[in-house]
Amino acid sequence: MIDLSTKYLGIQLKNPLVASASPLCENIEHIKQMEKSGIAAIVLHSLFEEQVILQEKELNYALTQQTESYAESLSYLPDINDYRFAPDEYVDYIAKVKKAVDIPIIGSLNGISNSGWIRYGKKIEEAGADALELNIYYLPTTKTSSCQEIEQIYLDLVKRLRQNITIPIAVKLSPYFNSIPGITDQLAEEGADGLVLFNRFYQPDIDLTEMSVIPNLELSRSSELRLRLRWVAILYQKVKADLAITGGIHTTEDIIKGILAGANVTMMTSALLEKGIPYIDELIKGTEEWLRRHQYHSINEIRGLLSQQNVKETDAFERANYMKVLKSYHYE
Ligand SMILES: Cc1cc2nc3c(=O)[nH]c(=O)nc-3n(C[C@H](O)[C@H](O)[C@H](O)COP(=O)(O)O)c2cc1C
Repeated sequence: MIDLSTKYLGIQLKNPLVASASPLCENIEHIKQMEKSGIAAIVLHSLFEEQVILQEKELNYALTQQTESYAESLSYLPDINDYRFAPDEYVDYIAKVKKAVDIPIIGSLNGISNSGWIRYGKKIEEAGADALELNIYYLPTTKTSSCQEIEQIYLDLVKRLRQNITIPIAVKLSPYFNSIPGITDQLAEEGADGLVLFNRFYQPDIDLTEMSVIPNLELSRSSELRLRLRWVAILYQKVKADLAITGGIHTTEDIIKGILAGANVTMMTSALLEKGIPYIDELIKGTEEWLRRHQYHSINEIRGLLSQQNVKETDAFERANYMKVLKSYHYE
């Protein structure tokens, strides 16, 4: 018997494959199908801070019947009706999903400011979510704040949430920090139980025919996994938080690589959107088969085998590898 079970955020999971936040999670039938295909847990699509703010503005307008002067930033946002779930519907949806399936359900908050929307963390907990993922998607575009001030926003956010809820908190981060070990260590200190590496920043393109900027959502490729593998391998056993990989998990081999680097779980969206929900079953059987073929008995046996756990001088190790890679290229 091969044991695929793993622990993430203190929750026992039957295998290391988790569905990350995506439109697939907006539909209970899809969630049931994912459970049937063997997914270990689900992260729901996010509730955005801006949704909460918009709802409050609209409510305020309805109550006062006065001309509302929206801040310019709010006018950039999709209309409130474009979201499938209003904030309170999102909370109700969690409760419904929890009734419909047995696998752990992780709620997701997506925002940046340390404002009233944090109370939705509490509502998500009350609705029965097993954990909360906080996606801090922030792209500073002005030079008014220092790196330290921006990092403090992240830390304060986690601290405030930790003070308000008791379920485990995972933080989904971008790779753009001066020091990933530095920020992850501080987030763990403030109460993050898990780190989800890494958020993908969607990058717009330029349409030369229309002479306009076009929003561009490209699904990931396995090659994006490498950035995640590097950082999970470096952080494994060095940060006091569980590690989840999101971004570039497409195949059984990608799952195995993630665990070898040190991940507790590997998350998937693009591959499921492309190949459909039944692909989950194939991946889980493939993971079992890989372990059997290589004479391992469990996922836990291989976790971190290819991490940098035993490398004492990781900076020098990374620098040496960089030099070796450049030297390995021969131009005839
Ligand atoms: C259409 C779409 C919608 C997504 N919605 C969310 C979301 O609501 N919240 C979030 O944190 N991530 C969201 N993501 C990001 C995914 O959860 C995941 O982190 C990302 O796609 C990288 O994983 P992958 O390579 O397996 O696709 C979304 C991704 C896609 C493609």
